[in-house]
Amino acid sequence: MKRRRFAALAPGIAVSLFGEAVTSAQTQSAVKLPSPQYDRGRPLMQVLKDRQTVRTFKPEALSQQDLSNVLWAAWGVNRSDGKRTAPSWANFQEIDIYVVLNTGVYRYDALPHTLEPVMAQDVRSSIQRTPPVGFVYVADFSKMRASSDEEKRFIAGTDVGFISQNIYLYCASEGLATVVLGGIDRAAMQKTLNLPDTKRVIHAQALGYKSA
Ligand SMILES: Cc1cc2nc3c(=O)[nH]c(=O)nc-3n(C[C@H](O)[C@H](O)[C@H](O)COP(=O)(O)O)c2cc1C
Repeated sequence: MKRRRFAALAPGIAVSLFGEAVTSAQTQSAVKLPSPQYDRGRPLMQVLKDRQTVRTFKPEALSQQDLSNVLWAAWGVNRSDGKRTAPSWANFQEIDIYVVLNTGVYRYDALPHTLEPVMAQDVRSSIQRTPPVGFVYVADFSKMRASSDEEKRFIAGTDVGFISQNIYLYCASEGLATVVLGGIDRAAMQKTLNLPDTKRVIHAQALGYKSA
């Protein structure tokens, strides 16, 4: 597994995930998330009654536990054969969630339930309204069999819909705010995340604690 070194923000100091100070000499390796709390959640019919888009957030980031829960609900591994909480076309599992926080960008690795550091910059302003937490859905076209890029985009867009709805349901259950964002500048986001042509930005999603 490739490890990346985060740039120091001030001499001798870098900021690791969730704002904890570490020395710049340390290598930022994968962040192990706490185990998801499988006993959380309100009855499904009540959650569906409350499901909605909310576009304003408190400024603070989610706790590690909430981030763990929402990532697992979104696109975690829920069976011993490696399949996930959301369906995917032909089980391509082509979607990666890039987690955009004030401390940097991370890629969710579902099987070990970890966050892989991607970059140390705060790029939340590239997502509408600079949310406390942004998820960017990236499709790995090299994992997909289809006749054209257009078909791959269609498949990836469909698969993202299920992941996004899982997040909507988790947020409705737990009183968090979320909005899925199709209106992003995909080319700009592609550049910001330094993605190769085989990896394509599909949509984004903003989430956080509800403002009063
Ligand atoms: C694929 C998709 C893309 C969306 N893109 C945006 C967006 O870019 N900006 C935004 O504010 N809302 C966006 N939304 C949220 C919709 O505006 C919202 O779901 C709709 O108004 C219905 O509201 P509800 O989710 O509360 O039922 C998007 C929704 C979907 C399904």
